[in-house]
Amino acid sequence: MDFSLTEEQRMVRDAARDFARTELLPGVIERDEKQEFPKAEVAKMGELGFMGMMVDPKYGGSGLDTLSYVLVMEELSKIDASASVVVSVNNSLVCWGLETFGNEAQKEKYLKRLATGEIIGAFCLSEPEAGSDATSQKTTAIDKGDHYILNGTKNWITNGNSADVYLVIAHTHPEKGHKGINALIVEKGMEGFEIGIKEQKMGIRGSDTHSLMFTDVKVPKENRIGEDGFGFKFAMKTLAGGRIGIAAQALGIAAGAYELALKYSKERKAFGTEIANHQAIAFKLADMHTQIQAARMLVYQAAVDKDNGDNYDLSGAMAKLYASQVAMEVTVEAVQVHGGNGYVKEYHVERLMRDAKITQIYEGTSEIQKIVISRSILRD
Ligand code: CAA
Ligand code: FAD
Repeated sequence: MDFSLTEEQRMVRDAARDFARTELLPGVIERDEKQEFPKAEVAKMGELGFMGMMVDPKYGGSGLDTLSYVLVMEELSKIDASASVVVSVNNSLVCWGLETFGNEAQKEKYLKRLATGEIIGAFCLSEPEAGSDATSQKTTAIDKGDHYILNGTKNWITNGNSADVYLVIAHTHPEKGHKGINALIVEKGMEGFEIGIKEQKMGIRGSDTHSLMFTDVKVPKENRIGEDGFGFKFAMKTLAGGRIGIAAQALGIAAGAYELALKYSKERKAFGTEIANHQAIAFKLADMHTQIQAARMLVYQAAVDKDNGDNYDLSGAMAKLYASQVAMEVTVEAVQVHGGNGYVKEYHVERLMRDAKITQIYEGTSEIQKIVISRSILRD
């Protein structure tokens, strides 16, 4: 395993680091408090090429590899996981899915604007009764010849109100089980498409999470992605890559908290010396650093697997499972290193701790990652 970065990868990482510090950091506490979507910041990330990082430049993307994307996710997430999840959904769940499985007309119409950040996308799989158990979709897309009639409710949709384009998974032939599911491109403003109230969340509070309601929404047939019945495979293949992005988000949250704890431990004095000189604190830092490095290896390996054209279902699931666990453990310890200051907003670590938890839940809970991992190792 050689993760020595190319000149280009280092430049991309440094640009993200610089952006996160100068543009995301100043307003991050206020956006978290007010549950405010980082609209202006997302627009700037579009200008920097972060919204369609892996998309071919002919469709408006940056044409970079997955490792570069992971490096950007890591840097953004050190500061603002609410902003980085917008990047993650747009890149791995929406642009990648459209570029890989969409047709030319769909790419022209939607991908070009998504990749530049002119518009934002959302990925709509989860439902009130179908989260982990994703094949139990209740939303229906009934075939009416040249269009589908879409009915149902989607839950927990990231970018729910801010998006312009929604990839919606729905059953066309319920009798065929998962083989009867389709993925449809739905536009904001289509008649019968309503956006529910915003969820009040513990973490990633700047990201807007909504339920979506579809009542007899007429979706043209040309908006179906892939062959009839490809929708569940579309979702699974897309999520396999998405999990690498969330693993990188978890890694970034952990690394951000660790960097703050390290700095604080060298400044704060107790019992006549910097707290880093107390072995209990130094050992916490040692554990955090070790866990983060191990998580980084898994996350980069999954990205490299994807870039090399190797199967990344297993490595992506392992990366997400482990990095999200590290994010939880490291952020809790970072708060501890900060003592009372860790419990207040201005020191940032309490937000990182709240943000860390979601990485064990979305894009497949930790239990679901273990299902994916165990099935893979038992099958092979
Ligand atoms: N690639 C291609 N096909 C896949 C696949 C993959 N990675 N994983 C499964 N499939 C296929 C299977 O091969 C099978 O097809 P065949 O019958 O033709 O072989 C079909 O999908 C059904 O697979 P399973 O029998 O394994 O299905 P299951 O009911 O046991 O569920 C699961 C499998 C892995 C648990 C799946 O339901 C799952 O991933 N659940 C979690 C859902 C999830 O991650 N949701 C995230 C929503 S998006 C989000 O959260 C975004 C965000 O926050 C920002
Ligand atoms: P459930 O499936 O009800 O699970 C409850 C518990 O049971 C979990 O601990 C789970 O791991 C466990 N469990 C379930 N089945 C098994 C099993 N077979 N074995 C062992 N344990 C099991 N979804 C989208 O489609 N698009 C989005 O953009 C999106 N964004 C989200 C943003 C946020 C902030 C949140 C909170 C969620 C988002 N989700 C999104 C939904 C997310 O993917 C689901 O919440 C997640 O997949 C879990 O589904 P669930 O909430 O229904 O939990």
